[in-house]
Amino acid sequence: MKQIALTGIKPTGILHIGNYFGAIKPALALTGNYDARYFIADYHALNTIKDPKELSALIRQVAAGWLAAGLDPDQVIFYRQSSVPETLELCTQLMAFTTKGLMNRAHAYKAAVQANTERGEDPDAGINMGLYTYPVLMAADIMLFDSDVVPVGQDQVQHIEMAQDIAQAVNYNYRQEVLKVPQALVQKSVAVVPGLDGRKMSKSYGNTIPLFAPEKELRKLIMRIVTNSQAVEEPKDPEGSQIFLLYKLFAAAEEQTALAARYRGGGMGWGEAKEELFRVVNRELSPMRERFEALITNPGALDDILKRGAEKARVIARATVGRFRAAAGIDS
Ligand code: ADP
Ligand code: TRP
Repeated sequence: MKQIALTGIKPTGILHIGNYFGAIKPALALTGNYDARYFIADYHALNTIKDPKELSALIRQVAAGWLAAGLDPDQVIFYRQSSVPETLELCTQLMAFTTKGLMNRAHAYKAAVQANTERGEDPDAGINMGLYTYPVLMAADIMLFDSDVVPVGQDQVQHIEMAQDIAQAVNYNYRQEVLKVPQALVQKSVAVVPGLDGRKMSKSYGNTIPLFAPEKELRKLIMRIVTNSQAVEEPKDPEGSQIFLLYKLFAAAEEQTALAARYRGGGMGWGEAKEELFRVVNRELSPMRERFEALITNPGALDDILKRGAEKARVIARATVGRFRAAAGIDS
């Protein structure tokens, strides 16, 4: 039997190339080897996104994005967290086994407290209970589906460790394996994708290339990449240029070797390097953009896919909360 891999995708921003290479592509690469369950963590997003139109649009865009990037809903159980209400029941069940001290130690909460303190504000200013108890809901997402592994970035490892602590507390109390203890799966080889200004591409820096930008906008953004003032004829170091770093993500090995030689040989200006980058980026993204447009303009079909995913998910979810209730002496 295949192991179960599960990951949550927070719909808090429009997908960009960093998300694609750092999260989407590696997660999709796992789907053949694992029984995969991927979901849109819309209740996690609610902690920060309070505008209903914005949240609803982001949920659809992110779901369409994953499908356009190649997620096969017949192979992966793909659903919205909010469509599986058992998540919220398990979350309540786990609350009783989660110490407040554990939540006090969560990095995201501590960072928010520190930022408040530095600004001379009340330590808990602007921190809602959703943010404070974020790791419990995430533990519920994970344990609900008997997940063996959770593919995440390094920043999420502490949350998986907390999920382990909570599952162990439950199992220890009832002297049986009510919940499976999950493991984090961190893909170390995943590159950090640079943004237009050379820093890590991130929505918080406003330096992103959106994954589904229309062709014209894509071209404009690539032309905006910050470069140094080396003249056309000067030889250039490919590895020191973010244009080339981005190029490597999209180009075949022979293309990379050929372009690196042109950089080193001199005679190629940044404008031409950007044109070549645009060509390979657009080549890879065009078909995905078309699939994305088809999904986003047909919300009924998109919702259907997510609904079918939720139905499959709920069969598993009901079994888990039932197991907990039976162990806890709470009869249905
Ligand atoms: P952002 O930094 O734009 O807010 P998120 O924190 O929402 O992005 O990231 C969602 C996922 O995409 C995470 O798994 C994260 O590791 C990955 N990711 C985001 N930006 C990059 C990047 N520049 N390079 C590689 N992976 C990234
Ligand atoms: N916290 C994760 C993030 O910010 C998203 C998430 C929610 C998640 N629930 C999860 C990831 C369960 C893995 C498993 O990226």
